[in-house]
Amino acid sequence: MSVPVGVLISGRGSNMQALVKACAAPDFPAHIALVIANCADSEGLKFAHERGIKIKLIEHTDFETREAFEAALHTTLSEAGVDIVCLAGFMRLLGAGFVRVWKGKLINIHPSLLPAFRGLNTHRRALESGVKQHGCTVHFVSVKMDEGPIIGQTEVPVYETDTVDTLSSRVLAAEHQLYPKCLQLVAQGDFRSLGFEGR
Ligand code: GAR
Repeated sequence: MSVPVGVLISGRGSNMQALVKACAAPDFPAHIALVIANCADSEGLKFAHERGIKIKLIEHTDFETREAFEAALHTTLSEAGVDIVCLAGFMRLLGAGFVRVWKGKLINIHPSLLPAFRGLNTHRRALESGVKQHGCTVHFVSVKMDEGPIIGQTEVPVYETDTVDTLSSRVLAAEHQLYPKCLQLVAQGDFRSLGFEGR
């Protein structure tokens, strides 16, 4: 059985591309049913469209409240029959209502080794703090930002010569490997035992 996945993006969409490519393998337990962007200039939409994936632009600026924006997201995902939602560089905070409805089916990738460096500018903060290991995390989304049960993490080294650019490229390459592996685990239902409902 192949689980239908919805991917939410805001910009470049390179993690979404990594998920699309992984899903192309015949034995992968999920497929991308829909890609939603909240910004009209999101480059990732073009990539998805060219591969015949259903795309939808839902701009948060078109809605008076966050609840109305999230209701539109929810309706679109539900109508597409989506069963797992992957946040892939989706730069809007999702409210408690949306998160509760999708609990155990809503996953996110974050560019740090959580719980270190929640929030933005993770690479700059990692360099400033002097850590020797940095990386990325895929986790279930909970009501608190960048929390929720961790599905997988990848460490990368931090070198003395690193800049934000060199470090972020190393982490991004790790993200592209990690996210498909974690989606595979969730699609297979391997996280039921965590008590986070899961699939
Ligand atoms: C990725 O590094 C992702 O981890 C990060 O945004 C980038 C999106 O790149 N997400 C967050 O910071 C979420 N808090 P992409 O659009 O090329 O996938």
